[in-house]
Amino acid sequence: EVSAPLIVVSNRLPFVLHRNEKGELSRKASAGGLVTAVAPVVIECKGLWIGWSGMYDLDPRTKIPEADPEDKAPTAGLKSEQVIAVHVEEKIFEAYYTGCCNGTLWPLFHSMPDRAVFKADKWKAYCIVNEEFAKCTVQALRKTLRELDARGETNVVPVIWIHDYQLMVAANTIRQVCEEENLRCKLAFFLHIPFPSWDIMRLFPWDDVILQGIMACDFVGFHIEDYCVNFLDCCSRRLGCRVDRNKMLVELAGRTIHVKALPIGIPFDRFVELAQSAPVYIKDTDAVRVILGVDRLDYTKGLIHRILTFERLLEKHPEHMEKIVFLQVSVPSRTNVKEYKQLKEEIDQLIGRVNGRFSRPNWSPIRYIYGCINQDQLAAIYRDSAIALVTPLRDGMNLVAKEYVACQIKDPGVLILSPFAGAGGMMHEALLVNPYEIDDAANVLHRALNMPQDERMVRMKQLRLREQVHNVTNWMKSFLASIGALATERDDPL
Ligand code: UDP
Ligand code: G6P
Repeated sequence: EVSAPLIVVSNRLPFVLHRNEKGELSRKASAGGLVTAVAPVVIECKGLWIGWSGMYDLDPRTKIPEADPEDKAPTAGLKSEQVIAVHVEEKIFEAYYTGCCNGTLWPLFHSMPDRAVFKADKWKAYCIVNEEFAKCTVQALRKTLRELDARGETNVVPVIWIHDYQLMVAANTIRQVCEEENLRCKLAFFLHIPFPSWDIMRLFPWDDVILQGIMACDFVGFHIEDYCVNFLDCCSRRLGCRVDRNKMLVELAGRTIHVKALPIGIPFDRFVELAQSAPVYIKDTDAVRVILGVDRLDYTKGLIHRILTFERLLEKHPEHMEKIVFLQVSVPSRTNVKEYKQLKEEIDQLIGRVNGRFSRPNWSPIRYIYGCINQDQLAAIYRDSAIALVTPLRDGMNLVAKEYVACQIKDPGVLILSPFAGAGGMMHEALLVNPYEIDDAANVLHRALNMPQDERMVRMKQLRLREQVHNVTNWMKSFLASIGALATERDDPL
């Protein structure tokens, strides 16, 4: 049950705004699992969502449009006054988003420091934008408190929930203002990507500011325990904080911060329903078995290694020729970042080479979609693929692996999963493979193609059961329970 108002802060709003030909603003839903889980709670508790609208030329006085009457998205019930768009000048936002978030923090936190660019001006933009988000949040908090006080609900403490690596220092400003103005709130942060080890974190010139920014919260959540341990280790080694690794607590300036692993799930039932009703999207599944990859086009996803693995399979086992096809869906992402542009070129060339090498008059081994597909089509291809190749080099959790198993409602397929994704530590019945070991990965792919039906059924049953229970609603409940417990729990001294 939700009681305290929830103020969610994320880089992107749960929908983007766009202007039609007549110049009228409307909402365009974004489909992620996070939105599915969090939006209903924000609606129910009459909370707020603060984020970037996706537009630079929006007048700050512009009212956010209400949802279309036909809008079926989970955000449709969010009233316009529950949504607050943060306005930042394009140049600064670019330096923050393209420069610092995705040019520095993304590669660093995925333990790929060679791809990270360290520049003081980008970091400055990051701090400016975080402060802007913080200011909007405090303003929203003041209003929320006025409303609560007017109703006499002076004991109710609003929860501010900040999401992900784009906003790691916003809590610093929020806490400072709250202390100055004596505003009551609980501050929480959740990181959707890995938290790196101290050896990697210390490469960042302003690592102390980030650690202090996160520690300005009362509660900090990560997907898996490894990331919690890395965080505690960084707090202890960089800032000399006292930490309790068993209870997952860290102390800073007399305050105790609670750290917890909260692995996110998916809206399982929704994917099952989609898989039950979605029309066939890949037409030749009876004759040809599909090996599937679905990812944002990102170097952390191991796309090059995956294509090389598939090539190795065809080299070693030509008997699969014309009987299988590798379908890769790559969603365009962060196309202004140099590393992403280069990767796109590299993938295009590699696919061309492999297809050139193995194609026959009526068959090409790799089918490639560079674009976004809708939820129906996605559910259909998950359902109709014999194998999902989910082989990131590093990934906070990876939802595609979970969505694939949810959609296996008929003759079940096989999930091949990298241990370097957060999901790899939990989905034990998948075939785990190190994506860097191309030869071994090709062997595992061959094994998956030959796996008997009874083994596939046993594995998939367990995989599906786990995701059904640990779904995204359950994740949301765990978060609210953890945050709720803070009020009653006395902090034992470390
Ligand atoms: N997805 C989508 N449209 C597509 C392909 C993928 O909306 O054309 C979604 C997919 O359903 C999944 C998300 O994108 O929920 C990817 O999440 P994941 O955790 O796998 O990776 P991330 O992109 O967050 O790194
Ligand atoms: C990952 C991050 C999210 C981000 C998403 C899409 O899932 O954890 O914070 O929103 O990728 O990336 P984008 O840069 O387009 O927001």
